[in-house]
Amino acid sequence: MTEHQGFVLWFTGLSGSGKSTLARMIEPELRARGCKVEILDGDEVRENLSKGLGFSKEDRDTNIRRIGYVAKLLSRNGVVTITAAISPYREVRDQCRRMVRNFVEVYTHCTIEELTRRDVKGLYEKALRGEIKNFTGISDPYEAPSNPEVLVDSSKETAEQSLQRIVAFLEAKQLIPAATAAAQR
Ligand code: ADX
Repeated sequence: MTEHQGFVLWFTGLSGSGKSTLARMIEPELRARGCKVEILDGDEVRENLSKGLGFSKEDRDTNIRRIGYVAKLLSRNGVVTITAAISPYREVRDQCRRMVRNFVEVYTHCTIEELTRRDVKGLYEKALRGEIKNFTGISDPYEAPSNPEVLVDSSKETAEQSLQRIVAFLEAKQLIPAATAAAQR
């Protein structure tokens, strides 16, 4: 079997917009196609690689640069690296893009109204009450990608539909084999 090329699937979007959910859903799809996969999930990275960092612009940029660096190391060794951090600042995302060969940015768009309604972690309510300072999308900036490879919208489509669109993009760019070809192997 030929060695698969690595690439970085870089999710960006507000807290609760579906980054981690989609990352976990896509992982088995990629493994079924023979890819090696690692997920660098925002919450998990902040427990180890970025422990101690806060949410100032400087700390967020440091966090994202670390994620980008690890993604570079993994992806150049053929590992499909999925990152799922808010990564709110365009400039540092673009720095990460320039560091890796195949960078696929997926913007998980969702309206603040919908995120506040869902509020899975209860953070939006706290942020709106002013109990969490500098909360992305409420009291801290989020710079949406101007030209993401894939744009998904969890307020308009199901996670399954978003997943299929991401997979279709990766197939079309020949970053992953089509499902039928993988099944024949
Ligand atoms: S990033 O800005 O550095 O990319 P990251 O994805 O690692 O953020 O962490 C975001 C997660 O931290 C959120 O999903 C939420 O659970 C938690 N969090 C705690 N405080 C904040 C805050 N002020 N802004 C955004 N997320 C926060």
